[in-house]
Amino acid sequence: MSQLRVIWWEESGVGLIDQTLLPHEEKEIVCETLESLWEAIKSLRVRGAPAIGVSAAYGAVLAAMLSKKNDPKEFAEEVKQGCDYLATSRPTAVNLFWALDRMKRKVDEVATQPLKDQREALLEEARAIDVENTEVCERLSIAGAELLGQQAQVITHCNAGGLACGNYYGTALGVILKAAEHGKKIGVYVDETRPLLQGSRLTAFELMKAGVEATLICDNMAGHVMKTKGLDAVIFGADRIAANGDTANKIGSYSLAVLAKEHGIPVYVAAPLSTVDFSLASGDEIPIEERESVEVAGWQTTRTAPANVKVYNPAFDVTPAKYIAAIICEEGVLYPPFEESLGRLRR
Ligand code: MRU
Repeated sequence: MSQLRVIWWEESGVGLIDQTLLPHEEKEIVCETLESLWEAIKSLRVRGAPAIGVSAAYGAVLAAMLSKKNDPKEFAEEVKQGCDYLATSRPTAVNLFWALDRMKRKVDEVATQPLKDQREALLEEARAIDVENTEVCERLSIAGAELLGQQAQVITHCNAGGLACGNYYGTALGVILKAAEHGKKIGVYVDETRPLLQGSRLTAFELMKAGVEATLICDNMAGHVMKTKGLDAVIFGADRIAANGDTANKIGSYSLAVLAKEHGIPVYVAAPLSTVDFSLASGDEIPIEERESVEVAGWQTTRTAPANVKVYNPAFDVTPAKYIAAIICEEGVLYPPFEESLGRLRR
């Protein structure tokens, strides 16, 4: 299991480690209302595409536990409304919608059963999503570890580790952790990842806990590191991958990929198939979340920018498929053209 407990179900609600406080405070919270879970997703107490999906699946269970409706149809309707509400928390990570759609399908499937059975069936489905996600992360980590040599220096962006996925390995970090477990000597340059510092606060923390060599850099040092340190790979996760392989991930991933091309370094994207949105032909259609200006204008309660400065704060960018050497998923390592290699796995 994870180095930390990330997401779990309790009788009173959805348990989470509050990721906004890490690494200095390991505080567990329980979201007992849909509003508090919505807020936890929005404010990144739980974050990372697969983790958002798993927490939302438990959110559907919470909606079922909280419903006071006695009529099975009205009950099912209320649970689905709860799912729709949670779906408004963040727009980019498709795992959120994937998990909620799966929970809504389960609601329909059991809609004629007594309420107690419906609640049990929903909890079982959320647990299945959770367990499958953990298995999938481990499988893709094993597949990706093969891409790294006996000694490798890599760079990663944001946090695509266990915290982002609700399990031990995660995705991009899972590839690194598995390679290290297989006896490979891996060094990782960790982009701090402005504005919310997921790399600095979470990735460095997870790698250090796992005993993998981690070197923290500011985002704007990546080019210099590529030029001077002889990197073997860029590895990051994904929030949504279009059918052609274009990949939305944390803001800064695109810049990293373009820099990598200039330096002849392969870019690997590690993500489960639940992150692939086959309904989108290209990354141009991926909705990009824009967040509050205060995240860029300062850090926590300290304002660094002038008052009233105009701010643009996109939380994600899209790396075109042409910059991606391979997509690592639970079915193995996929190579371009991704329309074909991904297309063969469409379910
Ligand atoms: O805004 P966040 O912290 O939720 O963004 C997370 C990322 O961009 C991750 O890199 C991505 O979700 C992949 S997580 C396995």
